Amino acid sequence: SIFAIFYLFFAYLLGSISSAILICKMTGLPDPRTEGSHNPGATNVLRIGGKSVAISVLICDILKGMLPVWGGYYLGLTQFELGMVALGACLGHIFPIFFKFKGGKGVATAFGSIAPISWSVAGSMLGCWLLVFLISGYSSLSAVVTALIIPFIVWWVKPEFTFPVALVCCLLIYRHHDNIQRLWRGQEDKMWHKFKK
Ligand code: G3P
Repeated sequence: SIFAIFYLFFAYLLGSISSAILICKMTGLPDPRTEGSHNPGATNVLRIGGKSVAISVLICDILKGMLPVWGGYYLGLTQFELGMVALGACLGHIFPIFFKFKGGKGVATAFGSIAPISWSVAGSMLGCWLLVFLISGYSSLSAVVTALIIPFIVWWVKPEFTFPVALVCCLLIYRHHDNIQRLWRGQEDKMWHKFKK
């Protein structure tokens, strides 16, 4: 419907609000786009600003995905439309209209937008991410492994959503190409000790 198209645009705009950039600015931290990995996301904010700021960024980026999809459910959007809203929120985060289309990698927003679609898929995402993170200490590796596995889990528990979720996972992996190269060369930094302190 025409309403769904407006709603999709709203999800994209909401996704385009970069929590990492705004929260760093508000707390007097350097711009995450010029520090560390240059990524405006919770992992890089953990690197440059510490745990509590990083957790705030994580929560805001999750909510940007979660709220529009949740709202869409209550407004009676179809399954296809809901999938597009989830994709729209992630596209906003990754290619934000407010920040010259240079955004983050979409991990937290993907998690948030998938949660209202299926709590069991979201639980698997969280479990997979945490497992790889606890074993390896790499935030990026955890995200890439999770993105490789999730399309199969969705196909199994919510097959109607396979297409949009798989698309989000592909985008997410594509956005980690620098991290994959660093992992390959053994140059990626481990985040575990930064989280513990
Ligand atoms: O969520 C992004 C994470 O997977 C990698 O972040 O800053 O290490 O590139 P970063």
